[in-house]
Amino acid sequence: REGQMPTVLITGANRGIGLELTRQYAAAGWDVIACCRKPKEAAQLARLKVEMRPLDVAKPASIAKLAAALKGRAIDVLLNNAGILGKRSGFGKAESKEFLSVMQVNALGPLLMAQSFWPHVKRSKMKRIAAITSGMGSIASGANGGSYAYRSSKAALNMVMKNLGNDLGGKGILTAAISPGWVKTDMGGKSAPLGVVDSAAGIIAVIAGLDAKSSGGFFNYNGQILPW
Ligand SMILES: NC(=O)c1ccc[n+]([C@@H]2O[C@H](COP(=O)([O-])OP(=O)(O)OC[C@H]3O[C@@H](n4cnc5c(N)ncnc54)[C@H](OP(=O)(O)O)[C@@H]3O)[C@@H](O)[C@H]2O)c1
Repeated sequence: REGQMPTVLITGANRGIGLELTRQYAAAGWDVIACCRKPKEAAQLARLKVEMRPLDVAKPASIAKLAAALKGRAIDVLLNNAGILGKRSGFGKAESKEFLSVMQVNALGPLLMAQSFWPHVKRSKMKRIAAITSGMGSIASGANGGSYAYRSSKAALNMVMKNLGNDLGGKGILTAAISPGWVKTDMGGKSAPLGVVDSAAGIIAVIAGLDAKSSGGFFNYNGQILPW
């Protein structure tokens, strides 16, 4: 089996949507490189018996260290899922420390991941880089006020993914920014209408369906195109 099935690397794989993405890719027989900040504390992830790797996407040295440790490995799908909401600071409450930390994790993290891991992706068969964004990052439809750091970080992430689609398209690498919907997780809360199972299944289908024409797009988990 080794080398026969595709490989996916998932960030923030220890809980929420990342954990479910890991579960579904593993159930489908993929080789999963499940990354999280604290593998020793990731009990639910450990039960899935996938390859676990330490990774903090807010730390460039952590990204570089993992890329070096995985040098020469083909990664079919690089899935940037890790994200933080921050304090949802509204107008009058935004401050630089929170704003920059949300930008670091949600927008810069996936860019640094792509800069470190594109060679792994290029040597794979499927060659895809995806990021979990949010409808709250849509300027055309989602800017309803408040949550300055989170909204800005996801709008920036959308630009990163679109731009990467252009810069890496010549290497045959496809990209996508995918909104997971409003999902029941620690971040989404209990009132969310969607469960992780349906959200993750949709995300996986969107990634599988990417082609040169749709690369660089902003998608909903159900495959719909979202307005920038
Ligand atoms: N749930 C929703 O309704 C919703 C809606 C729109 C978009 N999203 C997006 O979907 C993605 C997953 O969200 P979720 O709902 O599953 O959230 P979650 O339950 O809060 O999980 C977030 C995950 O990201 C990880 N993470 C945070 N900072 C990290 C860092 N610096 N390095 C590595 N991992 C880090 C967390 O790890 P730790 O356990 O170490 O903190 C955790 O595994 C995020 O990008 C989020 O913005 C979610």
